[in-house]
Amino acid sequence: MFILVDKMHLLLLLTITSYAHARYVDNNCSGVILRNVNHEKEVLKADVGSPYQLAMDYDTNTLFFSYSTEDENVFRSAFINLKTNEFANIPGVSGGFANAVDSRKHIVYIGGRDGIYKFDYDTKTARHQYTTDNIWQLFYKDRLYYSRYPDEKAFVFTDGDFKLVPELADTRAMLLSVDNYENIYFSNSSGLFVHKKGNGEVINIGEFGVNGFTTDFNGNVYFSTPNAIYNIDVNEKKVKRVAAVDSIYGVAIESDGGIIYASHDSVIRLKSTGTVCPGTDVENVSF
Ligand SMILES: *[C@@H]1O[C@H](CO)[C@@H](O)[C@H](O)[C@H]1NC(C)=O
Ligand SMILES: *[C@@H]1O[C@H](CO)[C@@H](O)[C@H](O)[C@H]1NC(C)=O
Repeated sequence: MFILVDKMHLLLLLTITSYAHARYVDNNCSGVILRNVNHEKEVLKADVGSPYQLAMDYDTNTLFFSYSTEDENVFRSAFINLKTNEFANIPGVSGGFANAVDSRKHIVYIGGRDGIYKFDYDTKTARHQYTTDNIWQLFYKDRLYYSRYPDEKAFVFTDGDFKLVPELADTRAMLLSVDNYENIYFSNSSGLFVHKKGNGEVINIGEFGVNGFTTDFNGNVYFSTPNAIYNIDVNEKKVKRVAAVDSIYGVAIESDGGIIYASHDSVIRLKSTGTVCPGTDVENVSF
């Protein structure tokens, strides 16, 4: 075949090859594709073990999260000021491993070994507020929720006290989230479920190994599994895979829709490279 190629055609062939190569370099889509755009990983904080339960305070543009220290038995809550990239541990918490933000009243809650603390922005320390059992997750949507470990029971602050979430009283719920329509999403070792507000129906969304829920600035619900980040559209009955990344421990959404996630030893922002990578749109799963 190639013997038949004359000089003229060989030149043409070489030109096409190098042109294709140049185009490939221009369209560098080897990062993380998010909404059809290539993103690279910007490390916001390195050397934090298993960062977990990311929570955004949109008012101050601060990211709260927990991580485990070298001896593995000590959990700490910490924050990153996303304007300055300043990182600090939060003193005063006994084993901080859960975080939630009430954006309306501007209160940051931290869950520790002996209950729930409130963060004080002036002193950058936490003060003990409520005594509870073992907290696994804290979540805020109109009211403060927490899940209890190891029996996976969910509680909500009602009339001055924590009470079982009535809708989840008969089930295990390790992690939970609530959307703008008061639908309650929860996960346990069987998968991901939603308790619908209207008729109280419980729908099995799928066998996702959820390791974190979060909501964006507008209250849309997202979750992470060890290798992807998803958005739930309950009206379309669809789970949309927003991005695929290896080794995810948790996720938070910035006010502009940007994604911050935790890997096994760092907190990472997905930063746009501006390169459009068409044909790599989100994957949907119907439920
Ligand atoms: C493509 O971009 C990634 C970061 O997203 C970078 O690590 C890699 O070196 C780039 N490759 C080329 C061929 O430019
Ligand atoms: C998880 O929740 C669903 C829905 O309530 C329930 O059917 C299932 O038994 C639960 N899984 C476990 C392990 O309890």
